[in-house]
Amino acid sequence: MKFFIDTANLDQIKEANDLGILDGVTTNPSLMAREGIKGEKGFIDHYIKICNIVDGDVSAEVIATDYQGMIKEGEALAALHPNIVVKVPAIKNGIKAVKYFSDNNIRSNCTLIFSPGQALLAAKAGATYVSPFVGRLDDISSDGVELVAQIVDIFDTYGYESQVIAASIRHTMHIIQCMDAGAHVATCPLNAILGLLKHPLTDIGVEKFLADHRKLNK
Ligand code: E4P
Repeated sequence: MKFFIDTANLDQIKEANDLGILDGVTTNPSLMAREGIKGEKGFIDHYIKICNIVDGDVSAEVIATDYQGMIKEGEALAALHPNIVVKVPAIKNGIKAVKYFSDNNIRSNCTLIFSPGQALLAAKAGATYVSPFVGRLDDISSDGVELVAQIVDIFDTYGYESQVIAASIRHTMHIIQCMDAGAHVATCPLNAILGLLKHPLTDIGVEKFLADHRKLNK
């Protein structure tokens, strides 16, 4: 099971990487915009900075929605660094692009997945990763974790090698539930990762151990 961080913020990426548990990074155009990244050079420089921090897969999303545009952008992104995974939306041209990338040894992450059918087409086209969006489904009273479980089950039944990234994670319980559902990866905000550590009994325990130690070591 792998942990990715879902951000384009370099400080947060460094903080998660320093924990020693980080396997990769996912970004998207909204996350890049949040960091004020703009222009082709800005995007390229930022992806390279991320790749220089983390020794793991870094998803970089295409902006184009037409097939030729996706291929051109995806090839340019993949050429930036061996760890770049080209992220494409689960639309018709996206599936065609995933197939092209798979045929040309370029790894892809098919994103904005909200149904088992979308995941199935992405896997058939040869996506390295598929990303069901858990939180956004929960937001509209659908069960995001259930979708993750369904996709994992289908891939297991038919032997698809695509890895399932539980995306749009909102909190720590999402991470646990998605792991329980068999997701290969969870891509999470930093606070959800750090939230996994929180337990009052741990804090109380540490305090008690230190207090007892201090009593005899004044
Ligand atoms: C996945 O790769 C996406 O970047 C991300 O998880 C989207 O999450 P959001 O619903 O919090 O925007």
